[in-house]
Amino acid sequence: MSKLALFGGEKTRSHPFPAYNTMGEAETEAVLRVMKSGVLSRYQGSWGEDFLGGPEVLAFEKEWSTHFGSKHTVAVNSNSSGLQLALGACGVGYGDEVIVTPYSICVSATAPLVWNATPVFADIDPNTLGLSADSIRRCLSPRTKAILVVHLFGCPADMDEILTLAREHKLHVIEDCAQCPDATYKGKKAGTLGDIGVFSLNYHKHIHTGEGGMCTTNDDALARKMQLIRNHAEAVVGPMGETELTNMIGYNFRLTELQAAIGRVQLTKLAGEVATRQKYAKAVIDALEPYDFIQSQKLHDRTHAYYTHPLLFDANRCGVSRERFVEAVRAELAPFAGLEHEGVPVNQAYVKPLYHLPLFQKRMAYKDGFPFTGKEKYEAGTSPVAEEMHSRRLWSHKFAIGSLSEDDVQDAIRGFRKVCEHIKELRV
Ligand SMILES: Cc1ncc(COP(=O)(O)O)c(C=O)c1O
Repeated sequence: MSKLALFGGEKTRSHPFPAYNTMGEAETEAVLRVMKSGVLSRYQGSWGEDFLGGPEVLAFEKEWSTHFGSKHTVAVNSNSSGLQLALGACGVGYGDEVIVTPYSICVSATAPLVWNATPVFADIDPNTLGLSADSIRRCLSPRTKAILVVHLFGCPADMDEILTLAREHKLHVIEDCAQCPDATYKGKKAGTLGDIGVFSLNYHKHIHTGEGGMCTTNDDALARKMQLIRNHAEAVVGPMGETELTNMIGYNFRLTELQAAIGRVQLTKLAGEVATRQKYAKAVIDALEPYDFIQSQKLHDRTHAYYTHPLLFDANRCGVSRERFVEAVRAELAPFAGLEHEGVPVNQAYVKPLYHLPLFQKRMAYKDGFPFTGKEKYEAGTSPVAEEMHSRRLWSHKFAIGSLSEDDVQDAIRGFRKVCEHIKELRV
């Protein structure tokens, strides 16, 4: 095998990989259909025929429910709004604690603050990278109201254990499914296991509408509350005769007809996209199997949606740091076309555990430190597994996405393997 590109050898792949673009003719036609109708959004923030949105939104919600096997779907303008809806509908409020993961995008931990509840960080499981049930148990208190689970990178968390715990303690479970559409756990789709599942349709996701989100639930009352909070609840509860007023503060979290029309077409592509990602990720896993310093997640009773493909690195087994390994892999490969500014899509770590954010370190969300009590545990080391993933173990790549050909994936694999074969040369 030739010299490593890091040391001046030839790159394994120097021309860019194909850009990711899930949009096609059908989406253009759907947009034109809505444009020609002139009705780009049909919502009215008052109790009446248009309170629940126009025909595209209603059809999209119905089709989403059918695809995911949920009784209800509530369309919103982002996953972030959806998490807010979900927590609000579950009655989360001042004085409550919500157990969250430190290893996700910030909104998975900050959403409870919007309702003046405080986030409590449990630790993650080193295999699923989602919340560990044991760690959740250690974080329970009389104030705990809900658990916000993130199925990180597309891998469902250990839901049986988490749901058992939630039932024992009468807690709501919200699943953040932004990264895991169509992933399954024991044969059921993620997003239908807890009380509410919240999906993202932002540009970076498996399928998208530019921005957008979908909330699934089997519970009639939770669905109704989410519909209310989505669309100016306070103006609507009176006319509709709703007497429970907790969290009935309305927002405008409405998805437009244009986005819904695009989403309906995108949804038909989801299963194919996820199947392709699973096939490509498996090719990478099989190719890296001989190298004992790289480990894959064990999936047995679940399927992964591979938003990105996470792998673990063991520096003790090869005498090379994760940083050096990732640097060498990046040197071998090329970026995605049009995304050259992002560099080669191979990353180390993910996010710094979220309690390191100034918001938590300074306990400053609203005026005068409200709603923090000062007793929250946000110091470094709060979640040792997440810290270890961040500082030493986790690396990930995007060479499993559906816009790639089999040959593209093989190029990425050749790059990975070349570095693995030369690993000793990376020791310093
Ligand atoms: C796990 C997770 N949760 C929430 C979000 C927020 O999604 P949105 O941009 O739709 O608000 C994202 C977006 O990247 C995410 O990855």
